[in-house]
Amino acid sequence: MKRILSGMRPTGKLHLGHYVGALENWVALQNDGDYETYFLIADYHALTTNLDSSHIYQNSIEMALDWLAAGVNPEQSPIFRQSQIKEHAELFLIFSLLITTSRLERNPSLKEQVRDLELDTISYAHLGYPVLQAADILLYKGSVVPVGEDQLPHIEITREIARRFNQTYPKPNGEAVFPEPEGKITKFARLVGLDGKAKMSKSLGNAILLSDPPDEVMKKVRTAVTDTAKIRKNDPGNPDVCTVFKYHQRFTKTEETQQIDADCRSGALGCVDCKKRCAASISEFLAPMLERRAQLERHSDHVRAILVEGESRARAVAMQTMSEAREAMKLG
Ligand code: TRP
Repeated sequence: MKRILSGMRPTGKLHLGHYVGALENWVALQNDGDYETYFLIADYHALTTNLDSSHIYQNSIEMALDWLAAGVNPEQSPIFRQSQIKEHAELFLIFSLLITTSRLERNPSLKEQVRDLELDTISYAHLGYPVLQAADILLYKGSVVPVGEDQLPHIEITREIARRFNQTYPKPNGEAVFPEPEGKITKFARLVGLDGKAKMSKSLGNAILLSDPPDEVMKKVRTAVTDTAKIRKNDPGNPDVCTVFKYHQRFTKTEETQQIDADCRSGALGCVDCKKRCAASISEFLAPMLERRAQLERHSDHVRAILVEGESRARAVAMQTMSEAREAMKLG
């Protein structure tokens, strides 16, 4: 069966934006059963922009908890840390031979990151970020990679590296070792932040976490930006410019959302009530995840065991691919 591989950097607890932009899609693809699904915790990648490694383990556990709570089933889909499988480093080295530094310097995602993080210089490994990502994908011969739009340049580089390897080092029977993977973008992948900014992000402090309990959700939704022209409760409002309404559209039932739209426009519904209903919808949506998370947290060894098991399954595939690659290279 063909494989899907995707991954995230371990940034700790995930938020609703991660769910809408990626996790929901991962779980759907897993449950479709058309592909084998593999989900990677990109802990080495996390080090490329922050050398402080002291929280990476804990952040990886928190992220794995959210994946599991959201419906990733570890029996179907191995979840594993990149740093625990040495083959990632090995294939990264080989792939580094097959791409020029000027190609990597042209990578628009890197340019964006350098600008956003205001970096003066970058490390050799940071320049090679997409090369490591290519190794992540191709070790498992991932043919489909569900990602956000910002990752497409990395998938393109992965395709170029695969092509270059296959041309340079065909198998003894002339076949290609690696597939040329395709990126699969999640539609409607963005959820606005509480402050109305284009994207939810933990560092911007405008995110609702998947693990936020109802009182926390309420507290956060209360701060959300609404139509600034609607000042008093009975002023007519414009849902089209309201962050809270965007959440209703995603998390409240269609019929109720239509009523909210009408009542906001007429002035019958004030923002305070509207926000209460919004928070309730979001918490209702999160409830099963909170429950699963709580169950998993009760047995702290459980998640660790899931990773160890995922890592052993992933390692077997990675070793197999590496032995094919080394054979094609006639390295003996
Ligand atoms: N670069 C990806 C991100 O920041 C994370 C990642 C690492 C990844 N390796 C991957 C995604 C392999 C897909 C496939 O979101």
